[in-house]
Amino acid sequence: MPISISIASGKGGVGKTSIAVNLALTMASVGSRVTFLDADFGLANAHLLMGYNPSNTVREAISGKTELRDSITKGPLGLQLISGGNGLLDLLNLDQSTRFNLIRSFDTLADECDVFFIDVPAGASNSSLSFVNASDKVVIVLVGEPTSFMDAYTMVKAAHVEGGVKEFSVVINMADNEVHSKETFNKFKKAACKFLDVNLKYIGYLPHSRALRSSIVKRKPLVLADNKCRESLLFKSMSKELLSSPNNNASGITFFNKSAI
Ligand SMILES: Nc1ncnc2c1ncn2[C@@H]1O[C@H](COP(=O)(O)OP(=O)(O)O)[C@@H](O)[C@H]1O
Ligand SMILES: [Mg+2]
Repeated sequence: MPISISIASGKGGVGKTSIAVNLALTMASVGSRVTFLDADFGLANAHLLMGYNPSNTVREAISGKTELRDSITKGPLGLQLISGGNGLLDLLNLDQSTRFNLIRSFDTLADECDVFFIDVPAGASNSSLSFVNASDKVVIVLVGEPTSFMDAYTMVKAAHVEGGVKEFSVVINMADNEVHSKETFNKFKKAACKFLDVNLKYIGYLPHSRALRSSIVKRKPLVLADNKCRESLLFKSMSKELLSSPNNNASGITFFNKSAI
């Protein structure tokens, strides 16, 4: 049964997609079969970071024109990318039954994937929350700014209160160094745990990275360009910490129907 991992942030522009793509490829590089849903419908850009130009997107599958399988683009290291498409603003607010059917439709891919990544749209919209609440693991990407703290807190609170999510993994992006990133994490944890009965686990950090930025311009993910550089090693340790973090036991709709088992 695949493990489902949502990458969320609350705030946009904090590095969610960059981290999701490189984490997913780090897992693919050690032999995991990875499927990646770019659920940032309307603003999907994971394909740009991977250097792909998908001809089909999840839109055709949602509208029932094609099978979900036909929306898959084969990416690097066998990664299966399902793009959310661009400019599809009508997909941003999927109604409840469409979201339910979309989540269920991934059951058909269960036998061919070990890890299922979801790049969740920014903001605590109903779509974002339904993907987060349906996942085994939830990664929150945080930067050390009050706006990021505020939006990440809103996301954690909404997922906890509405979906019963209790376990969160946190990545600190654009940190000066490891010590500083742990300080940022502890500050966020203290604030969140004061009000919410949640468990936050620090799984790693990334510095401000020129290499990461230029990998985006070159459309070649950093962990593929150089798997021994500092950032790639940080992604390896992040991936290890993430896989050993506790899973959620959501009682509602979950990816791969785990709550029904
Ligand atoms: N650690 C980092 N160092 C330097 N630039 C970064 C880093 N993380 C993200 N960026 C840059 O920030 C911008 C937003 O990143 P992106 O991954 O698209 O964020 P999000 O998905 O949260 O909107 C991109 O231009 C990316 O190159
Ligand atoms: Mg993004």
